[in-house]
Amino acid sequence: MIELKVSGEAEVLRLLKGATRGYVSGTDISGELRISRTSVWKRIKKLKKMGYAIESIRARGYRLAETDGDGNKKSFSGVEVLSGLTTETIGRDLHFYNELPSTNIKAMELAAGGAPEGTAVIADTQTGGKGRLGREWFSPPGVNLYTSVVFRPDLTPPEAPILTLVFAVAVAEATEEFTGDGVELKWPNDLLLGKRKVAGILTEMNSDMDRVISVVCGIGVNLNMPTQLKPDELSSKSISIKEYCGLDIERARFAQKLYSSLERWYKIFTQSGFPPVAARWRDYFGVEGKKVSVNTINSSVEGICLGIDDDGRLLIREPGGVVRTISSGDMDHHAWAR
Ligand code: BTN
Repeated sequence: MIELKVSGEAEVLRLLKGATRGYVSGTDISGELRISRTSVWKRIKKLKKMGYAIESIRARGYRLAETDGDGNKKSFSGVEVLSGLTTETIGRDLHFYNELPSTNIKAMELAAGGAPEGTAVIADTQTGGKGRLGREWFSPPGVNLYTSVVFRPDLTPPEAPILTLVFAVAVAEATEEFTGDGVELKWPNDLLLGKRKVAGILTEMNSDMDRVISVVCGIGVNLNMPTQLKPDELSSKSISIKEYCGLDIERARFAQKLYSSLERWYKIFTQSGFPPVAARWRDYFGVEGKKVSVNTINSSVEGICLGIDDDGRLLIREPGGVVRTISSGDMDHHAWAR
């Protein structure tokens, strides 16, 4: 497992990418970042070692040669994500790994060790990616995004599950930025494109009896995964953004957009509560008014879906007219196929 913590190089990369005339001088970099010329040179050397093609020309400075999209692994790195990050906190403390058992496990460990809110973990591949309800999350290398972010909300443990819906709106918004349309949410937090699952969220928490200590939001998004990579049981139920819209999705750019959306919706929630988030969540919800079935821990509920209430619970009107309020469960996927 290789961890990269690399904000110095990311700052230089950001300046190289922003250079309007192609070149940026060593003096300008050193002035802008308030570091010595030697430090500039060391960071350039490190970036080159990571695979960035940087030319240096006397009297003009440094220039970043065109890099490819994201077919190439070098362009998905902690440096690449940090160099275009526009958030205040989320992803600023970024732990990037080539391989991990699970980014959620790593983020929970970091949170237990006192990591601040916004700390994020990314892995190119996971060997034990975790899904909801004890399922596995298929996590091949080179194609998708697997990330987990630490939050420290001021909530009681029973209030925490609502966060999953906040995170779901953020993932939906980031995805829509790339697809332009087609994004739907399945309660509580599956993201669908063209009725097939494109992303999942696993929220885990560490708390004492009356306060949440930390929450880890784990997000897996199928970005460029081709159909033939998927195990048979997933191929008809899942989809990647590339399969949906035919475009290669640059993983670093997706992560940057995702972190911005997470920061925005988390702020809306902490400042204004759940109602504005619920309104946006409902926009993405495709089965209001339709017949659905939901498996809860000890029963199965069938009826007409009335949407969610302002606490994020699912409302189902049973055939007899009784409205059931469900706090946790798994919705039948077939509702979307009808
Ligand atoms: C689901 O079952 O829909 C939730 C899937 C969550 C998968 C992500 S991938 C990044 C993070 N690390 C994990 O082990 N799981 C989550």
